[in-house]
Amino acid sequence: MYNEIQTHRELGRLLRLGNYQAAEKAPAHEYTVKHDWDVWRFEEAVQMIKDHGTLEGTRFVYPANGFEYVVEDIPTHKTYVIKRHKKEYSSVYSDFVRQYLHAMDCTGPKKTAREEASNVLPQVQGRTLEVGVGSGQSLAHQWSLSPMGYTGVEVCPELAHYAKTRHRGYHIINCSLEHLTEYGFKTIFALGGTASYFTDNDTQRVFDLLAPGGTAYLSYYLVGRTGWAEMFGHGAPLKKIDPRKVLEESLLGVWGDYAVLTIKKP
Ligand SMILES: C[S@@+](CC[C@H](N)C(=O)[O-])C[C@H]1O[C@@H](n2cnc3c(N)ncnc32)[C@H](O)[C@@H]1O
Repeated sequence: MYNEIQTHRELGRLLRLGNYQAAEKAPAHEYTVKHDWDVWRFEEAVQMIKDHGTLEGTRFVYPANGFEYVVEDIPTHKTYVIKRHKKEYSSVYSDFVRQYLHAMDCTGPKKTAREEASNVLPQVQGRTLEVGVGSGQSLAHQWSLSPMGYTGVEVCPELAHYAKTRHRGYHIINCSLEHLTEYGFKTIFALGGTASYFTDNDTQRVFDLLAPGGTAYLSYYLVGRTGWAEMFGHGAPLKKIDPRKVLEESLLGVWGDYAVLTIKKP
Protein backbone atom coordinates (compact mmCIF):
# COMPACT_ATOMS: atom_id res chain seq x y z
CA MET A 1 0.00 0.00 0.00
CA TYR A 2 1.28 3.43 -0.90
CA ASN A 3 1.01 6.29 1.51
CA GLU A 4 -0.06 9.71 0.19
CA ILE A 5 3.46 10.91 -0.59
CA GLN A 6 4.50 7.70 -2.31
CA THR A 7 1.33 7.83 -4.40
CA HIS A 8 2.02 11.32 -5.71
CA ARG A 9 5.68 10.53 -6.27
CA GLU A 10 4.84 7.32 -8.15
CA LEU A 11 2.08 8.92 -10.19
CA GLY A 12 4.35 11.85 -11.09
CA ARG A 13 7.03 9.37 -12.18
CA LEU A 14 4.60 7.28 -14.24
CA LEU A 15 3.20 10.34 -15.97
CA ARG A 16 6.64 11.67 -16.82
CA LEU A 17 7.63 8.38 -18.42
CA GLY A 18 4.58 8.19 -20.72
CA ASN A 19 5.14 8.19 -24.44
CA TYR A 20 3.40 11.44 -25.44
CA GLN A 21 2.53 12.45 -28.99
CA ALA A 22 1.49 15.90 -30.19
CA ALA A 23 -2.22 16.00 -31.00
CA GLU A 24 -2.68 16.84 -34.67
CA LYS A 25 -5.90 18.80 -34.45
CA ALA A 26 -5.42 20.42 -31.08
CA PRO A 27 -1.72 21.24 -30.80
CA ALA A 28 -2.19 22.75 -27.36
CA HIS A 29 -1.97 19.29 -25.87
CA GLU A 30 -0.21 15.98 -26.19
CA TYR A 31 -1.64 12.59 -25.44
CA THR A 32 -0.61 9.05 -24.77
CA VAL A 33 -2.49 5.81 -25.22
CA LYS A 34 -2.45 2.39 -23.66
CA HIS A 35 -0.49 0.43 -26.26
CA ASP A 36 2.53 2.72 -25.81
CA TRP A 37 2.78 1.73 -22.16
CA ASP A 38 3.22 -1.32 -20.10
CA VAL A 39 -0.55 -1.98 -20.12
CA TRP A 40 -0.98 -2.42 -16.38
CA ARG A 41 0.96 0.71 -15.57
CA PHE A 42 -1.25 2.70 -17.95
CA GLU A 43 -4.40 1.38 -16.26
CA GLU A 44 -2.81 2.18 -12.92
CA ALA A 45 -1.98 5.76 -13.98
CA VAL A 46 -5.54 6.30 -15.26
CA GLN A 47 -6.99 4.97 -12.01
CA MET A 48 -4.65 7.09 -9.90
CA ILE A 49 -5.57 10.24 -11.85
CA LYS A 50 -9.22 9.42 -11.19
CA ASP A 51 -8.56 8.78 -7.50
CA HIS A 52 -6.31 11.76 -6.85
CA GLY A 53 -7.33 14.30 -9.51
CA THR A 54 -10.18 16.79 -9.46
CA LEU A 55 -13.42 16.00 -11.29
CA GLU A 56 -14.27 18.81 -13.74
CA GLY A 57 -17.45 17.87 -15.62
CA THR A 58 -16.60 14.46 -17.10
CA ARG A 59 -12.82 14.99 -16.86
CA PHE A 60 -10.41 14.13 -14.08
CA VAL A 61 -7.57 16.63 -13.89
CA TYR A 62 -4.28 16.04 -12.09
CA PRO A 63 -1.65 18.82 -11.96
CA ALA A 64 1.96 17.68 -11.65
CA ASN A 65 5.33 19.33 -12.29
CA GLY A 66 4.02 22.18 -14.43
CA PHE A 67 1.64 20.03 -16.49
CA GLU A 68 -2.02 19.13 -16.24
CA TYR A 69 -2.91 15.50 -16.96
CA VAL A 70 -6.48 14.79 -18.00
CA VAL A 71 -8.54 11.59 -18.24
CA GLU A 72 -12.05 11.75 -19.67
CA ASP A 73 -14.46 9.35 -18.04
CA ILE A 74 -15.67 7.73 -21.22
CA PRO A 75 -18.94 5.82 -20.68
CA THR A 76 -17.89 2.68 -22.62
CA HIS A 77 -14.64 2.47 -20.62
CA LYS A 78 -13.00 0.98 -23.70
CA THR A 79 -10.74 3.81 -24.81
CA TYR A 80 -8.56 5.79 -22.53
CA VAL A 81 -6.29 8.65 -23.42
CA ILE A 82 -4.16 10.57 -20.98
CA LYS A 83 -3.91 14.12 -22.28
CA ARG A 84 -1.27 16.50 -21.09
CA HIS A 85 -0.85 20.21 -21.51
CA LYS A 86 1.19 22.89 -19.85
CA LYS A 87 -0.59 24.17 -16.76
CA GLU A 88 -1.22 27.92 -16.83
CA TYR A 89 -0.41 29.60 -13.54
CA SER A 90 -1.29 33.10 -12.50
CA SER A 91 0.62 35.11 -9.93
CA VAL A 92 0.41 38.60 -8.46
CA TYR A 93 4.05 38.99 -9.56
CA SER A 94 2.90 38.99 -13.22
CA ASP A 95 1.32 42.41 -12.56
CA PHE A 96 4.64 44.11 -11.82
CA VAL A 97 7.24 41.79 -13.29
CA ARG A 98 8.90 44.53 -15.38
CA GLN A 99 9.31 46.86 -12.43
CA TYR A 100 10.54 43.95 -10.29
CA LEU A 101 13.20 42.91 -12.82
CA HIS A 102 14.20 46.53 -13.32
CA ALA A 103 14.68 46.98 -9.57
CA MET A 104 16.77 43.79 -9.39
CA ASP A 105 18.88 44.82 -12.40
CA CYS A 106 19.55 48.32 -11.07
CA THR A 107 20.19 47.70 -7.41
CA GLY A 108 20.37 43.93 -7.08
CA PRO A 109 18.90 42.24 -4.03
CA LYS A 110 18.77 44.31 -0.87
CA LYS A 111 21.58 44.05 1.66
CA THR A 112 19.48 41.89 3.96
CA ALA A 113 18.69 39.46 1.14
CA ARG A 114 22.40 39.23 0.28
CA GLU A 115 23.24 38.52 3.92
CA GLU A 116 20.57 35.87 4.01
CA ALA A 117 21.90 34.19 0.85
CA SER A 118 25.44 34.26 2.21
CA ASN A 119 24.26 32.44 5.32
CA VAL A 120 22.09 29.85 3.59
CA LEU A 121 23.68 29.03 0.24
CA PRO A 122 27.06 27.79 1.53
CA GLN A 123 25.13 25.23 3.62
CA VAL A 124 23.23 23.79 0.67
CA GLN A 125 24.11 20.17 -0.01
CA GLY A 126 22.75 17.15 -1.86
CA ARG A 127 19.57 17.08 -3.94
CA THR A 128 18.18 20.58 -3.61
CA LEU A 129 14.86 22.30 -4.17
CA GLU A 130 14.50 26.07 -4.43
CA VAL A 131 10.97 27.38 -3.95
CA GLY A 132 10.19 30.77 -5.50
CA VAL A 133 13.17 31.07 -7.83
CA GLY A 134 12.02 34.58 -8.83
CA SER A 135 14.48 36.15 -11.25
CA GLY A 136 17.10 33.51 -10.34
CA GLN A 137 19.10 35.60 -7.86
CA SER A 138 20.25 32.68 -5.76
CA LEU A 139 21.82 31.00 -8.79
CA ALA A 140 23.69 34.21 -9.58
CA HIS A 141 25.45 34.27 -6.21
CA GLN A 142 29.10 33.53 -5.76
CA TRP A 143 28.20 30.43 -3.68
CA SER A 144 27.29 28.84 -6.94
CA LEU A 145 25.01 25.84 -6.96
CA SER A 146 25.65 23.11 -9.47
CA PRO A 147 22.86 22.29 -11.94
CA MET A 148 23.34 18.66 -10.86
CA GLY A 149 20.66 17.82 -8.33
CA TYR A 150 19.05 21.28 -8.43
CA THR A 151 15.30 21.75 -8.99
CA GLY A 152 13.62 25.15 -8.80
CA VAL A 153 9.91 25.99 -8.83
CA GLU A 154 8.49 29.40 -9.65
CA VAL A 155 4.76 30.00 -9.96
CA CYS A 156 4.95 33.27 -11.95
CA PRO A 157 5.24 32.31 -15.66
CA GLU A 158 7.20 35.41 -16.67
CA LEU A 159 9.75 35.06 -13.86
CA ALA A 160 10.13 31.32 -14.47
CA HIS A 161 10.86 32.05 -18.14
CA TYR A 162 13.34 34.79 -17.21
CA ALA A 163 15.18 32.56 -14.73
CA LYS A 164 15.30 29.63 -17.16
CA THR A 165 16.77 31.82 -19.88
CA ARG A 166 19.26 33.35 -17.46
CA HIS A 167 20.39 30.02 -16.01
CA ARG A 168 20.34 27.49 -18.83
CA GLY A 169 20.95 23.91 -17.77
CA TYR A 170 19.20 24.35 -14.41
CA HIS A 171 15.98 22.42 -13.90
CA ILE A 172 13.50 25.25 -13.27
CA ILE A 173 9.78 24.48 -13.50
CA ASN A 174 6.91 26.95 -13.84
CA CYS A 175 4.88 25.27 -11.13
CA SER A 176 3.54 25.95 -7.66
CA LEU A 177 5.06 24.11 -4.73
CA GLU A 178 1.83 22.20 -4.12
CA HIS A 179 1.97 20.60 -7.58
CA LEU A 180 5.54 19.35 -7.44
CA THR A 181 5.68 15.56 -7.29
CA GLU A 182 9.44 15.19 -6.83
CA TYR A 183 10.42 14.20 -3.31
CA GLY A 184 13.39 13.34 -1.16
CA PHE A 185 15.34 16.63 -1.15
CA LYS A 186 18.31 16.93 1.16
CA THR A 187 18.00 20.73 1.14
CA ILE A 188 15.03 22.99 0.43
CA PHE A 189 15.37 26.75 0.45
CA ALA A 190 13.00 29.66 -0.17
CA LEU A 191 14.82 32.98 0.10
CA GLY A 192 14.02 36.70 -0.06
CA GLY A 193 10.81 36.50 1.96
CA THR A 194 9.23 33.83 -0.27
CA ALA A 195 7.81 31.85 2.67
CA SER A 196 5.62 34.85 3.58
CA TYR A 197 3.54 33.86 0.53
CA PHE A 198 3.12 30.26 1.72
CA THR A 199 -0.10 28.72 2.94
CA ASP A 200 -0.02 26.34 5.91
CA ASN A 201 -0.26 23.48 3.38
CA ASP A 202 2.86 24.77 1.63
CA THR A 203 4.79 24.71 4.90
CA GLN A 204 3.64 21.15 5.52
CA ARG A 205 4.57 20.23 1.94
CA VAL A 206 8.11 21.50 2.45
CA PHE A 207 8.44 19.11 5.37
CA ASP A 208 6.96 16.23 3.32
CA LEU A 209 9.31 16.85 0.39
CA LEU A 210 12.41 16.69 2.60
CA ALA A 211 14.42 13.48 2.76
CA PRO A 212 15.08 12.07 6.24
CA GLY A 213 17.94 14.08 7.71
CA GLY A 214 17.23 16.96 5.31
CA THR A 215 17.07 20.67 6.13
CA ALA A 216 14.81 23.45 4.89
CA TYR A 217 15.56 27.18 5.08
CA LEU A 218 12.45 29.32 4.79
CA SER A 219 12.76 33.09 4.66
CA TYR A 220 9.95 35.30 5.99
CA TYR A 221 9.52 39.03 5.96
CA LEU A 222 9.39 40.08 9.56
CA VAL A 223 6.46 42.02 10.94
CA GLY A 224 6.46 45.54 9.54
CA ARG A 225 8.31 44.73 6.30
CA THR A 226 6.63 45.44 2.97
CA GLY A 227 6.53 42.70 0.33
CA TRP A 228 7.13 43.41 -3.38
CA ALA A 229 3.46 43.02 -4.26
CA GLU A 230 2.46 45.67 -1.75
CA MET A 231 5.35 47.90 -2.72
CA PHE A 232 4.14 48.06 -6.33
CA GLY A 233 0.55 48.54 -5.24
CA HIS A 234 -0.60 45.14 -6.49
CA GLY A 235 -2.04 42.17 -4.71
CA ALA A 236 -3.29 41.80 -1.21
CA PRO A 237 -0.99 42.90 1.59
CA LEU A 238 1.10 40.06 2.88
CA LYS A 239 -0.01 38.44 6.07
CA LYS A 240 2.47 39.67 8.62
CA ILE A 241 3.76 36.30 9.58
CA ASP A 242 6.04 36.31 12.55
CA PRO A 243 7.43 32.80 12.93
CA ARG A 244 8.63 33.71 16.41
CA LYS A 245 5.03 33.71 17.56
CA VAL A 246 4.49 30.08 16.60
CA LEU A 247 7.89 28.48 16.75
CA GLU A 248 10.52 28.18 19.39
CA GLU A 249 13.13 30.90 19.07
CA SER A 250 15.81 28.21 19.02
CA LEU A 251 14.56 27.04 15.61
CA LEU A 252 15.14 30.41 14.04
CA GLY A 253 18.17 32.25 12.86
CA VAL A 254 17.47 35.93 12.33
CA TRP A 255 19.61 37.95 9.96
CA GLY A 256 18.96 41.61 9.26
CA ASP A 257 15.36 42.42 8.43
CA TYR A 258 14.49 38.89 7.42
CA ALA A 259 14.03 35.75 9.47
CA VAL A 260 15.09 32.40 8.20
CA LEU A 261 13.32 29.47 9.72
CA THR A 262 15.34 26.28 9.72
CA ILE A 263 13.40 23.02 9.62
CA LYS A 264 15.23 19.78 10.20
CA LYS A 265 13.60 16.48 9.30
CA PRO A 266 14.70 13.70 11.66
C1 LIG B 1 9.83 37.62 -2.65
S1 LIG B 1 10.09 36.81 -4.18
C2 LIG B 1 11.70 36.14 -3.93
C3 LIG B 1 12.36 35.68 -5.19
C4 LIG B 1 13.77 35.08 -4.99
N1 LIG B 1 13.74 33.94 -4.09
C5 LIG B 1 14.75 36.12 -4.51
O1 LIG B 1 15.19 36.03 -3.36
O2 LIG B 1 15.07 37.03 -5.28
C6 LIG B 1 8.99 35.43 -3.98
C7 LIG B 1 8.85 34.53 -5.22
O3 LIG B 1 8.25 33.30 -4.84
C8 LIG B 1 7.27 32.92 -5.79
N2 LIG B 1 6.32 32.04 -5.07
C9 LIG B 1 5.56 32.38 -4.00
N3 LIG B 1 4.84 31.33 -3.57
C10 LIG B 1 5.18 30.28 -4.38
C11 LIG B 1 4.78 28.90 -4.44
N4 LIG B 1 3.89 28.41 -3.56
N5 LIG B 1 5.29 28.11 -5.39
C12 LIG B 1 6.21 28.60 -6.28
N6 LIG B 1 6.63 29.91 -6.28
C13 LIG B 1 6.13 30.73 -5.34
C14 LIG B 1 6.71 34.26 -6.27
O4 LIG B 1 6.08 34.15 -7.52
C15 LIG B 1 7.96 35.12 -6.30
O5 LIG B 1 8.63 35.05 -7.52
